[in-house]
Amino acid sequence: MDYKKIISETIKIDGVSEEEIYSLIALPKDLSLGDFALPCFKFAKALRKSPNMIAEDLAKLDYNGAFEKVEAVNGYLNFKVNKKAQAKQILDDVLTSGEKYGSSQIGMGKTICIDFSSVNIAKPFHMGHMLNTSIGSALYKIYKELGYNVVGINHLGDWGTQFGKLIVAYKKWGDKEDIERRGVRGLLDIYVKFHKEAEEHPELDDEARLWFKNIEDGNKEALDLFYWFKDITLKEVSKIYERLDVHFDSYAGESFYNDKMEPVVEELQQKNLLSESEGAQVVKFEDDKMPPCIIKKKDGATLYATRDLAAAFYRKKTYDFDKCLYVVAYQQNLHFKQWFKVVEMMGYDWAKDLYHVAHGMVSLENGALSTREGNVVFLEDVLNTCVAKAKKVIEEKNPNLENKDEVAEQVGVGAVIFAMLYNSRIKDITFSEDKVLSFEGETGPYVQYTYARCNSLLEKCGAIEGDVDYSGIDNESAAEVIRTISKYQDVLIDASERFEPYLVTRFVVELAQAFNKFYFECNIANAEQGIKNARLLLTKAVKQVLQNALKLLGIQTPKKM
Ligand code: ARG
Repeated sequence: MDYKKIISETIKIDGVSEEEIYSLIALPKDLSLGDFALPCFKFAKALRKSPNMIAEDLAKLDYNGAFEKVEAVNGYLNFKVNKKAQAKQILDDVLTSGEKYGSSQIGMGKTICIDFSSVNIAKPFHMGHMLNTSIGSALYKIYKELGYNVVGINHLGDWGTQFGKLIVAYKKWGDKEDIERRGVRGLLDIYVKFHKEAEEHPELDDEARLWFKNIEDGNKEALDLFYWFKDITLKEVSKIYERLDVHFDSYAGESFYNDKMEPVVEELQQKNLLSESEGAQVVKFEDDKMPPCIIKKKDGATLYATRDLAAAFYRKKTYDFDKCLYVVAYQQNLHFKQWFKVVEMMGYDWAKDLYHVAHGMVSLENGALSTREGNVVFLEDVLNTCVAKAKKVIEEKNPNLENKDEVAEQVGVGAVIFAMLYNSRIKDITFSEDKVLSFEGETGPYVQYTYARCNSLLEKCGAIEGDVDYSGIDNESAAEVIRTISKYQDVLIDASERFEPYLVTRFVVELAQAFNKFYFECNIANAEQGIKNARLLLTKAVKQVLQNALKLLGIQTPKKM
């Protein structure tokens, strides 16, 4: 509720605009005087009365019941907010908006591209990707909630000499059935074997180069195998994306830009930005502040940066983005700095709309959890372990629960996502499955449990009928819940501006904690009907806001657990 607006709209003084009145309203330092104060000195001239008399006249106006008390003191008009009316208004707002509470149209007409997850073909989906994917997907959903047009892009790592190696390895040692059954794990095995063998038989590398050239030249056998590897990988990651509730609008990966780089290279040439360095074509930076950005290798091959440049031009042309975000670990800081600068040097002012949304790394506290294959931990294994552990806890806590498997999936996966989004994205994470699964502390299960608590309470108490006595939520712990709820939209906006989904996670924790305090302090189920109704409405609003916020993070809300 915009109290300043209510005041400035109610007061009408000839020669003083509504905006002027609005800007005069102050927040008194001493809250015992009121929540808002309007100095009336400036109106004296227009009204030909003393400020005090003006304040006394204005105190008699009807401010729509928004204030409990409006008082004239020494030329000031002091307003005390009607807490009950405020509570009622916020609850009404949450309960009528429902799933839409918190959403906004501030992004209308603006497009945000988000490059995230961007997995590599034939490589495992590991915990690092989990952090990346969780951040990217949460930003995707937050921007959508704020009315932006959002394009989620999975910039697949589907190009490079490693595919030549993989073909050689497959032709020598591959077992089609095994790979179809074991997917990326099967591919990883033969890839690891290739590297071992190539140490003693360097001619394998020559063969690999040849097969990569075959892919480039469009040789059918090479392409068929390449697409098959891609297919296997994508099938596997799609299953993970489904579990995480992650979606993309484009899977245009590195190979998509094969025929889109030449115009960029030509333009660089035309603009005199290319120079030769040890046979390679590079862009050098002023005063050598950064190492040069390599555009073409000695043998004419293009690089990761060349593809990113081509992709940026393609995205600008195709989506005309207002911002293009790259959610990528901080190890690639230099890479992004370099090629963003190249776009700027080419004279495109939209270089300033490119953002590297850098994040930290994930390591595992407990090695026992890991399936070590080529020294990587598959995310799928981490998720499965967490789901199994969640199921155990549920079996102990709630043995009669009907859909234990479904809830275990929601809790196990939710716990991992929550842990990824708990801290500012740049922080490194040490992941411990036992910690993230704890029902106490600031965890996924804790907030899900709070949601389930709201739900059970509402089910137990039945329909909210009859009068609502808002004095039931007049106390400090209820007021804290309401204050928290009312911040929700600002939190989303802040998170979108700072590219920081953790602000939403912290909000969820704050709301859950405030609600639990209220729940333990105030009798709800056995209170007198009107009071009970107010408390149940508050519970219903908390349930709704928790659900809305968790959904943006990709965390499910089981009704019972
Ligand atoms: N596939 C890359 C990696 O795993 C990340 C790609 C990020 N996106 C980009 N446009 N460079 O390191």
